[in-house]
Amino acid sequence: MTSNEHSSLIEEARLARENASAPFSRFKVGAALQTPGGKIFHGCNVENCTYGLTVCAERVALLSALAAGERKFSAVAVMTQSEEPSTPCGPCRQLMWEYCGDIDVILSNLAGKTTIYKLSELFPHPFAFSLDTP
Ligand code: THU
Repeated sequence: MTSNEHSSLIEEARLARENASAPFSRFKVGAALQTPGGKIFHGCNVENCTYGLTVCAERVALLSALAAGERKFSAVAVMTQSEEPSTPCGPCRQLMWEYCGDIDVILSNLAGKTTIYKLSELFPHPFAFSLDTP
């Protein structure tokens, strides 16, 4: 991806973040997940008064894309308000690894700081199993 493509995906994550519902943590997160064909799926975190039912922005974007029938992904951008761009939580890394493979993970904050990883850098030695083994 070019740096212009990175910038527009970051902007999509910034817009997605505006829809976050985070009354408990006050930590709003936006995600924008891109397919190789250029489609973008948005997600924001949605919290809940039991706390435990909270869903992260990355998973909302991914599940929305999967529900739309998409199965191939090239990059995800995540926008937060933190001083350093936040990295995705463990469960989101696991799910993205399973469904997206080794995509680019573009992390940004509102101040414009950006860090880019391959998902394999953030999630080395992933859990996987084969049904072939007895
Ligand atoms: N959150 C995300 O949306 N993505 C992550 O990868 C980590 C955390 C949300 C969950 C919760 O609503 C808030 O950030 C604080 O943890």
